[in-house]
Amino acid sequence: MHTIHFTLNGREVIARDVDPNTTLLNWLRDQGHTGTKEGCAEGECGACAVALVVKDGAGSRYLPVNSCLLLLGAVGGREVITVEGVRAPGTATSLDRQPHVVQQAMIEQAGSQCGYCTPGFVVSLFAEYYRKDRAATGFDPESIGGNLCRCTGYRPIVDAGRSLPVLQPGSQDGFAARLASPAPPVEKLELAYEGHESERFLFRPTELTDALDYLAEHPDAYLVSGGTDIVVELNQRHRRLDRMLLLEGIEELQQIRRGEEYLEIGAGVSLGRVETELSAEVPLLGELLPLFSSRLIRARATLGGNLGTASPIGDSPPALLALDAELCLASKAATRWVPLCEFFTGYRQTLRESGELITSVRIPMPQPDVARFYKVSKREFDDISTVAAGFSLRTKQGLIESARLCYGGVAATPVRATAAEQALQGQRWSKPALELALAALEHVFTPMTDQRGSAEYRRRMVTKLLERFWFDTAPDSPAQSSSRKVG
Ligand SMILES: Cc1cc2nc3c(=O)[nH]c(=O)nc-3n(C[C@H](O)[C@H](O)[C@H](O)COP(=O)(O)OP(=O)(O)OC[C@H]3O[C@@H](n4cnc5c(N)ncnc54)[C@H](O)[C@@H]3O)c2cc1C
Ligand code: FES
Ligand code: FES
Repeated sequence: MHTIHFTLNGREVIARDVDPNTTLLNWLRDQGHTGTKEGCAEGECGACAVALVVKDGAGSRYLPVNSCLLLLGAVGGREVITVEGVRAPGTATSLDRQPHVVQQAMIEQAGSQCGYCTPGFVVSLFAEYYRKDRAATGFDPESIGGNLCRCTGYRPIVDAGRSLPVLQPGSQDGFAARLASPAPPVEKLELAYEGHESERFLFRPTELTDALDYLAEHPDAYLVSGGTDIVVELNQRHRRLDRMLLLEGIEELQQIRRGEEYLEIGAGVSLGRVETELSAEVPLLGELLPLFSSRLIRARATLGGNLGTASPIGDSPPALLALDAELCLASKAATRWVPLCEFFTGYRQTLRESGELITSVRIPMPQPDVARFYKVSKREFDDISTVAAGFSLRTKQGLIESARLCYGGVAATPVRATAAEQALQGQRWSKPALELALAALEHVFTPMTDQRGSAEYRRRMVTKLLERFWFDTAPDSPAQSSSRKVG
């Protein structure tokens, strides 16, 4: 109840009497493992990156994550590699330490100046070096997409990535050999801590029934999935949670189920997995996910967390609304399916009742005939939306049977533009149909002004994004007719 055991750079460690609100980064640095840096403490810079050994088929892989957003309780039983553990295979002691091939590449390509970001880059490159299909795909620059460098410039770092040799099968590399065997299973963990002001508890079950029993007994328990929202609040606003229910060990929430009528995605499936496993089957999610924060965040962030946080600028709601998704809410007493379009009831309010958690999201199959996701933000990648939109059309014999035009960032909740959807019904997807929908979109939303954009700008984006959808997809748009001519 008072200790967390895990493997750190190949050695068993025990963390005793820690507040469950403690992050791995803070614990590491308190213990003198100061190679891992804190840049921002909110998932933006990657200076704190560490690698977890996670399941990959029958074996495992290295998954880089931001340790500033990882609760120490989430690490219990796992294997963690920090920059101190990245060294030439076979040079196990600190006296005999030689650089790893990724560190050597950073030296040779002059990939470091002040060095503050370097441990994070080294860990991300380490995971990329051991990625099993790297020999086939070559170096993936996205592997360092969540790492920021303020002084070196990215070219030398990308050059270091590109210069990495292909790992030869059967090479005497212990880090590669480790990946042949499974990752440690995520085990049940209970933590109690007597703080100055209050007692604090963390429970990480492995069975959904245990989680629901616990939530029935402690309806005040705070649900934590990937932690990429809530741990930012712990770090930046110094919020402290007295009781946490960590959902990441629950296998039932990690499932992806394919049926003829539905695709069901467990609420605990990471967005990284959704991106790699489902982008081809659900192209709208395939468009959205590369624009959703960075790969370091997507490694931990979940759909359950993105819906549970109920932010009006969350990126998955407009896409999932356009796909007519439903979500499953479970409590000890009952399970119910709720259409996503009814889930958000007000600013950061939802239909979820005390004692309930989201267990999965269900997307009707087959996919719509036409669908697109658009995100307006100050930077193309790794930024929060000013406005986002998910659009889809189902057609029959050339006429629109149903349309879904869904927005984030233009009201207190993610919303559907139902009048504009109805205006499109029965029409051929064309400029005149667009005009009807645009007329129905006038003045329906009540966006706010904030630092990301004015209300007026957001209102204009509502119509501009629909025009863009027409431009990108309608047979009578100049883009479509010119691409037909070229083709
Ligand atoms: C640097 C950075 C960039 C980001 N970029 C984006 C972005 O581009 N787009 C975007 O939409 N978001 C972004 N986010 C926000 C965040 O990553 C997402 O909202 C993410 O999906 C949250 O998932 P999580 O599993 O980490 O949630 P958590 O932090 O674990 O939980 C978030 C909330 O959901 C609740 N919750 C968690 N799981 C469940 C469940 N199963 N049932 C009910 N409630 C639940 C929690 O109680 C909490 O209130 C970003 C965050 C950071 C730090
Ligand atoms: S310290 Fe910046 S991402 Fe963790
Ligand atoms: S080397 Fe200084 S921040 Fe990257």
